Parts: sequence; C-alpha cells; structure tokens
Amino acid sequence: MAVTARPDGFVGVFDSGVGGISVLRSLVAELPHEDFEFFGDSANAPYGEKTAPEVLGLSRSIVEDFVAEGAKCIVIACNTATSAAAQTLRAEYGELPIVGVEPALKPATLAPRHGRILVMATPMTLRLDKFHKLAERWGSDSEVIGVPCVGLASRIEQGNLEADDLYELLEDLVGEYRGTVDSVVLGCTHYPFVRRQIKRVLGDVQLFDGAEGTARRTRSLLEAGGLLRDESHEGTVSFRSSKQGAEEMRLYHDLYELDF
Ligand code: DGL
Repeated sequence: MAVTARPDGFVGVFDSGVGGISVLRSLVAELPHEDFEFFGDSANAPYGEKTAPEVLGLSRSIVEDFVAEGAKCIVIACNTATSAAAQTLRAEYGELPIVGVEPALKPATLAPRHGRILVMATPMTLRLDKFHKLAERWGSDSEVIGVPCVGLASRIEQGNLEADDLYELLEDLVGEYRGTVDSVVLGCTHYPFVRRQIKRVLGDVQLFDGAEGTARRTRSLLEAGGLLRDESHEGTVSFRSSKQGAEEMRLYHDLYELDF
C-alpha cells in the first residue's frame, strides 16, 4: 500500500493496552518536537495469549486507522505484536517507517554480569521465531531462561500496582529464581511499570527493557526519511483506548506520569 508520509504527520504508537506507554515515554524524551498518538487495544488485551494470526489482524486494523488519519511513522510498542506482525506490515506498507520493539537481550548479554539471564515475556513472544533468532545471536555466552508470564500483562491492565495479589503473582512466576540470576530482560512493554515490584521479588538484579533503543531507532528512521518535525514545533501526546470509560483513560494518564 502506497503511503505518502509527511513531516507534519504524527507518530502512531500502539500496544495491546497500557504497556506501550512505557515506550511512549522514551519516545517523547527522545523526540520532544513530534506529535504522538497512542492507541491501547485494552479491549483485546492480552495479545500474548492469543494466536499470531489474531494479533496480526488486530495490529493491521490499528495501522490502517493510523495511516488513514495521517500517521508518518508507526511504533509497535509491543513485543508480542512486533513478533507476530512487524515483518508482514512492513511488506504491506513499503515506504512507511514501522518500528518494533524486541526483548533487550543484546544489552543484557553485553553487561558485565551476564551468566544467567531471565527473559520475562508473553508466551507468544517466547514461542515465535524472532525470539529464538535473538537468543541464538546474542545468547551463546549466557544461560538464557525464558519465563512465559501468563496473566501478568492482564494484571497490570487493572492498575493498583502495589496490591498484594500482584506480588503473589510475581512470586509464583519468578520467585524460584531469586538470588540465582544476574539480570532480567523485561520482554513485554507492560512490565517496566512493575520494575520495583520485580526487584523486590528477585533481589539484586539488573533490569533491561527495549524502550530507549526503540526511541533511538525511531529518531534515526525519521531523520533518514526527512520526516522530523521542525524544532520550533512543540510536540503533543494524545491517548485512545479500545476499552471505553473515564476510569480507563485515568489509568493511561496515571501510568504516563508514574515514577517507575
Ligand atoms: N505489552 C505487550 C508486549 O510487549 C503484550 C502484553 C499482552 O497483551 O499480552 O508483549
């Protein structure tokens, strides 16, 4: 599909729900003169427990809407949707820059302590090829342990991130690794919102996520395409969700402001 991207278009950012807001924050820090429109597909979350064709279909319809509204670039702020859809959507949209996010295994394996690395991600991210290739490429010097965190993204969608049941869920998912891993890759964009809680369960570990790398990659693609906004423009951020309600929007804004 031919798309004419223009510098005064917006950057469309999406995720299955609130998780991509953790990436949006890095994007805004890196690109303060851009306009961002964030779409969270909370009505269809979690993506990570669906099938890859389902996630491709949902991602495609979000990208279609963004393009119809004048997006000049798309950021898939979701590891799961990147694994299931990025390649196909890039082939379908040709010139349109489409940036994805992937588990930050590379920086984790290059860190001084990299013997045993836990990768927390959705079942789909860990199952699909993209992750296996990443682990093959960067994981040869480390023991890489993938932990499918069933239920964690859905729990984060509910907010109230200091509640006991969230700690109990983390304990069930990763408690057995306490004191035995060097670092943890947060391979789902929802998880940075519970960084402190993960550290409380796992102890002294270094955490890695893909947000800053994604923001740098977005800048370089916009630059290469001559699509950066003029520096006199003050960037804007707006939010939309497929799940209706004032409470839902409050959660989106609260997470955007959250100190995590
Ligand atoms: N935030 C998403 C990711 O980065 C997926 C969460 C979900 O909907 O399962 O993988």
